[in-house]
Amino acid sequence: MGMSRRSFICGGLAAGVLTLGAAPLLSSCARRRRDPDQPSGLSMEKMPELDDQSVAILRHASLAPSGHNSQPWYVKKKGRFEWVIGADPARRLPAVDPRNRELLLSIGAFVENLSLAAGAHGYEAQTKILAAQPSAEEILGVFLKGEKANEYPMARIVSRRTVRNGLKSTEITKSDIEKLGRPLEGNFFYFPRNSEHAKCLAEWAIESFREQTNRDEAQKELASWIRFRDKEAEKFRDGLTPESMEITGFAGWWVRNFYGPKDVMDKDFRRRGIDGTAKIAREGGGWVIVTSRGEKVADLVETGRNFERMFLLARDLNLAIHPMTQTLEEDKWRQEIGKQHGPGMIPQFVLRIGYLDKYPEPVSLRRPVSWFLRG
Ligand SMILES: Cc1cc2nc3c(=O)[nH]c(=O)nc-3n(C[C@H](O)[C@H](O)[C@H](O)COP(=O)(O)O)c2cc1C
Repeated sequence: MGMSRRSFICGGLAAGVLTLGAAPLLSSCARRRRDPDQPSGLSMEKMPELDDQSVAILRHASLAPSGHNSQPWYVKKKGRFEWVIGADPARRLPAVDPRNRELLLSIGAFVENLSLAAGAHGYEAQTKILAAQPSAEEILGVFLKGEKANEYPMARIVSRRTVRNGLKSTEITKSDIEKLGRPLEGNFFYFPRNSEHAKCLAEWAIESFREQTNRDEAQKELASWIRFRDKEAEKFRDGLTPESMEITGFAGWWVRNFYGPKDVMDKDFRRRGIDGTAKIAREGGGWVIVTSRGEKVADLVETGRNFERMFLLARDLNLAIHPMTQTLEEDKWRQEIGKQHGPGMIPQFVLRIGYLDKYPEPVSLRRPVSWFLRG
């Protein structure tokens, strides 16, 4: 399909979109689980400087999704019930996220998990944005105010994960779309798999992935976040592992034992990535675009929070969510998608969505709370 035909089809994205809300928009052998010592995700970490409840709340917060699983957060303790949530400059992704957009969305997801876990432990998490710019380090303050514990199902937070394979082609039911859209209040747009818009989003996802894969700077950055060896994964407890990238069977074993960062720069590795992406981009029940009204720190944190609430609901509905962010990272595609929406509707997530036969167990790693707690 040539560029002109693609542009033509995609040009229709603004009109007649099936949206929720009124506005027009536009493994290896899976040997390793997330944490063998803490299968429930509930912390058994003992820290002299934090009470058990706080450790459990922060542990749940840290199960949030983040770009490349960079876990860009740190927490500074100000008092028994007062924390500052910061963005760790060493965990930025300058090659794909130079403006810290994804970093702030990820921190938003962290704060949402924190708030949900705090609620279940009998606290209301009151938050206040501290950062004036996306480049600031201290993003927001949290104060935990005692109140009656609610019954939020914490198992949802523990069992949510990104799923990239096995998405069925069934369209998502109207009632499920309504449920998922609720936390995002008019910033959630679903495109069923057979719509022209969905086909266009799939093409864009593939083309932007290809563009990014051929950009050495982005590929080098990706390589630095892949933990090929089990030992490395244990040491860092972040980034992407063969398991979390869903490289399964013999290929997973091979990659885990014989691959290294240099291979990521090879033509063959890049080609396999593109081929794999082209295959999965055409699977699933359709696409979702999540938008925000503004681009300030508060808008991005808020969008990350609401996105995470939606992601957690999706887990209960047996629905896979797969962010395919290259469309929003590569200039050409971001500009193209930017043309398709009106003011106050800024695309922040491009997600593939689909029902699963069985929701797999989470496998991506997390740093212990003590590693991201400061002072
Ligand atoms: C802002 C953001 C962007 C992401 N972009 C991608 C992406 O382009 N491709 C992908 O496969 N996963 C993407 N993810 C998913 C992360 O890789 C995933 O959350 C992380 O590895 C942790 O795994 P988990 O979600 O299973 O806990 C993204 C997540 C976030 C929050």
